[in-house]
Amino acid sequence: MEIPLCKTYMDEKELAAVKTVLDSGWLAHGPKNKELENQFKGYVGTKHASCFNSCASALLTAILAKDLKGEIILPSFTFTASANAIELAGCKPVFVDIDENTFNISLEEIEKNINDKTVAIMPVHYAGQICEMDKIMELANKHNLVVIEDSAETIGAKLNGKHAGSFGIGCFSFYPTKNITTGEGGLLTFNDDSIVAKVNAIKGHGIVKPTFDREEDVKAWYRDAVLPGYNFRMSDINAAIGVEQMKKLDEINALRQKHSLYLNKQLEEVVGDKLIVPKSNNIENHVYQMYVIKLNEANDRDALLKHLKDNKIGASVHFEPVVHQQTYFKQKYPITLKVTEDIQRRIITLPMFPGLKQEELDYMVLKIEEFFKK
Ligand SMILES: Cc1ncc(COP(=O)(O)O)c(C=O)c1O
Repeated sequence: MEIPLCKTYMDEKELAAVKTVLDSGWLAHGPKNKELENQFKGYVGTKHASCFNSCASALLTAILAKDLKGEIILPSFTFTASANAIELAGCKPVFVDIDENTFNISLEEIEKNINDKTVAIMPVHYAGQICEMDKIMELANKHNLVVIEDSAETIGAKLNGKHAGSFGIGCFSFYPTKNITTGEGGLLTFNDDSIVAKVNAIKGHGIVKPTFDREEDVKAWYRDAVLPGYNFRMSDINAAIGVEQMKKLDEINALRQKHSLYLNKQLEEVVGDKLIVPKSNNIENHVYQMYVIKLNEANDRDALLKHLKDNKIGASVHFEPVVHQQTYFKQKYPITLKVTEDIQRRIITLPMFPGLKQEELDYMVLKIEEFFKK
């Protein structure tokens, strides 16, 4: 048996949707982008949604559109894209520690690091679990800070019925390892009417009205840049895949949750004294984009990874090195984060995707049990 780390969940619907776009002759940013945006904002519950070619571009655009200049507080326990966006926008990333149970940004650590240079907080919803957004928003409102949620790993998780990415400005990823995919792709969600034109301009060469929308204009050729924008747009080929994936999102997340709860129960039963499984207070809080276990003994970690690899189980680590220990950031912002540095040595990401079969789940449990019992 061979189990990959992740596998997409697609059928002939995505194929047919792509063919329709190819046949239409309009392949670039166009009507399918609009369809995906309408679907997504309806699902997440925000006023606006804007498709991007990646979450990284959405993150950068969020900072530029809000014209932020100063310090942005974020966890170091994230993919480097979160910090890159801050750095590329000319702001300073202030890395803070995480909660040792959820691996999400610690509220106390945010509070400790707020000063008069702080302009924003960037919580990262790690592996599918939403952060304490109610408390983070309270803190942000108290200090008049912008909140940019890095929701790349969390499409569909909720806190008290409210979606990740709908509290502040939400940045999502449709990379193939994420809850749903468009190949490459991302999306920005927000409620602030005042940044709509700026978001469009930043992602489309500085021009507020995209080509498709100008088609009906008397002077359709007239392109006026209002700022030095870039091209962060999604093609309609990718958006067509996204529209079909959105229809499957609830089913995908329900399967991820079902498989994860099964693994939680089985692993706790057989090796509960060796590791901690990823639990959440409420199932709506976690959509298990990744299934991450924490070993009690850091010394077991690399040996267990090797054992899993030898048995063709596609396990991995998210994330090591953590961002503040990566070459660029450690030279520029030397800092020690106790919990983050300890956790990166103890974690293993096990395969998690909607199509996992019962025998595959049992095989993973068996191989982990075998490792600890030998
Ligand atoms: C937390 C986080 N932020 C940002 C990204 C970047 O997403 P993308 O590849 O769509 O730019 C990722 C993807 O791995 C991520 O996990």
